Amino acid sequence: FDFAEPKNEPVLNYGPGSHERKELQKAVAELKAQVRDIPMYIDGEEVRNGEKKDIHPPHEKAHLLGHYYQSNEEHVHQAIDSALAARESWASTSWEHRANIFLKAADLLATKYRFRMNAATMLGQSKNAYQAEIDSACELIDFLRFNVHFVSQIYKGQPLSSPGINNRMEYRPLEGFILAVTPFNFTAIGGNLPTAPAMCGNVVVWKPANTQIYSASVFMEILIEAGLPAGVINLIYPPGAMVGEVCYAHPDFAGIHFTGSTGVFQSMWKSIGMNIARYKSYPRIVGETGGKDFVFAHPSAHAAAVATGLARGAFEYQGQKCSAASRAYIPSNLADEIKEKLIAQVKTMKMGPVDDFTNFINAVIDEKAFNSITKYIDAVKSSNGAAKIICGGNYDSSKGYFIEPTIIETTDASYSSMCEEIFGPVLTIYTYEADNWVEMLDVVDTTSPYALTGSIFSQDRYAIEFMAKKLVNSAGNFYINDKPTGAVVGQQPFGGARASGTNDKAGSILNLYRWLSPRTIKETY
Ligand code: SER
Repeated sequence: FDFAEPKNEPVLNYGPGSHERKELQKAVAELKAQVRDIPMYIDGEEVRNGEKKDIHPPHEKAHLLGHYYQSNEEHVHQAIDSALAARESWASTSWEHRANIFLKAADLLATKYRFRMNAATMLGQSKNAYQAEIDSACELIDFLRFNVHFVSQIYKGQPLSSPGINNRMEYRPLEGFILAVTPFNFTAIGGNLPTAPAMCGNVVVWKPANTQIYSASVFMEILIEAGLPAGVINLIYPPGAMVGEVCYAHPDFAGIHFTGSTGVFQSMWKSIGMNIARYKSYPRIVGETGGKDFVFAHPSAHAAAVATGLARGAFEYQGQKCSAASRAYIPSNLADEIKEKLIAQVKTMKMGPVDDFTNFINAVIDEKAFNSITKYIDAVKSSNGAAKIICGGNYDSSKGYFIEPTIIETTDASYSSMCEEIFGPVLTIYTYEADNWVEMLDVVDTTSPYALTGSIFSQDRYAIEFMAKKLVNSAGNFYINDKPTGAVVGQQPFGGARASGTNDKAGSILNLYRWLSPRTIKETY
């Protein structure tokens, strides 16, 4: 059973003149030169029918990358049927065989398809080379390798036996199919959500966000090349609400693995609740649903460290990480220094398309995101002085959905952009009276319904321990003297509670347990 603990995949350096940069540029150019006709994958077949939808890079609206086919109810039924038809043979396939398919996919990604996968993420989701590398190469490879290791540890775990009695646990897959619904912001999450249950012997219907289809289809090709049997993972496309309704109404619906918005997750949960009497078993509901992640600087903090943590935590990938720093509390004694250093760093961030590797900031994902993010920037004008923009604030969607990294300063700790998830390159800062740092912790804890990530900065050990205790439920991923983004599989298992999700920690053994239903067997002899 045992698959040794892997090492994290090293992050490649795409520095100027490097071989890696040349290869990646070549892969970007190759993909851009094609108009990809992206099929669904149902029962191992490429399915090309239904309404066609165009895919454009968010940073270059005029360019056509390809198109995908929208699902209709029939596609969803076919995907479910093919998953169920594959179930018995997949569930009884030896664990080693299953595991080796995912390890092979990880190796293919690490070597043969690394640049293609990163190029697809850069173009389809507007990520710069570094952000693509840590996502669609390293994190995705890590998910596959570490999850294989975690499942092997689960299978090894057995209860006590005694003379005359043999006890064992049989870790069965769930009886039915799993629906994986994945977001645009991480190709790695797109890969993890269907493969984690599949590794455990489950069969899956996978529905990515329309803005993730371009990279998701490249990963699907890799899984197939690695030997994934037909029907084990069926890749179908939006409209999501329709896909969900067909799946939730099915008696063999066994669970959902979701990353996306709180609103969508709550409506899924309601629909599942409405259908609860139909199911063979209670479905597993696993979801990660966003955040309003804080950075709290204590009066003893190192100002430069806070500034760097904020600059990177808030603006990498245009702030579109559910872990992104989006509200900052800085003490009056350090406020000027932190702001000055932060603004100086942010002003060096160049913005533009992904093809130019010197651009740090690329476009936000689509028009809907552009409109909802820029609303918060516009709202500052009518805030009657409660807020002002101290950096950035310009935006332009003529060629692509570009929004400057923007810092709002507010005198009201409950100002809208301090409380609501924006999911874009907008950071709001509130300066508190340094002597009141203890009282401020209650504000940090209660300002938002989310509890995904958060950072504290301090050089005072006593204060660090005190804050960690006070903020015990404020974040599932809690950082001390570091930015709140960039959790690494196997090192910082990821997820939060409250409105941020079920906290079943992606990239940890806890997540894999959710996809298994153990049978306890006692045999006397
Ligand atoms: N795992 C990512 C991070 O930590 C967010 O999904 O930034």
